[in-house]
Amino acid sequence: MVQATPFLLVVSLALVAPSFSSRKCVLTGKWTNDLGSNMTIGDADEKGDFSGTYTTKVTVNKNETRTSPMLGSQHLTNEKSQPTFGFTVHWNFTDSVTVFTGQCFVDKSGKEVLKTMWLLRSRVDNINDDWKAT
Ligand SMILES: *[C@@H]1O[C@H](CO)[C@@H](O)[C@H](O)[C@H]1NC(C)=O
Ligand SMILES: *[C@@H]1O[C@H](CO)[C@@H](O)[C@H](O)[C@H]1NC(C)=O
Ligand SMILES: *[C@@H]1O[C@H](CO)[C@@H](O)[C@H](O)[C@H]1NC(C)=O
Repeated sequence: MVQATPFLLVVSLALVAPSFSSRKCVLTGKWTNDLGSNMTIGDADEKGDFSGTYTTKVTVNKNETRTSPMLGSQHLTNEKSQPTFGFTVHWNFTDSVTVFTGQCFVDKSGKEVLKTMWLLRSRVDNINDDWKAT
């Protein structure tokens, strides 16, 4: 009996540890990328769908910013602590659309980071120009 106690303690520590190290990554809030664009994500609904806005500096005039609507969907954080997601930015000052896909991570310092890849689709007048549009 006396010998069993330390063993039980070790087992219970091993079970508890993973829930401390796997902090949830929540998409809701304001994000800034390394180029100075800002994105605000609203609360996800029970299916994981969310909306928000994406604000970017216009490349021709660096002082001007434009805000466009964004619509996305994520895996729920009650199932996955570092969820995958996708969203579409509907640029409302051009004919273009950008889609993003990525994953929300909690880094070593406990900071939330979104790692994404994106594709930008520009409008072309003719199907022959399709090859250069994305
Ligand atoms: C993004 O937010 C930061 C901090 O609030 C601000 O300094 C910056 O001008 C914003 N960028 C854009 C493109 O709105
Ligand atoms: C941005 O605004 C500042 C201050 O209003 C001005 O001095 C600068 O020339 C502007 N830059 C551009 C690229 O328009
Ligand atoms: C573009 O979308 C943003 C965010 O929804 C909105 O505030 C803005 O008024 C829209 N602009 C145009 C030109 O539709």
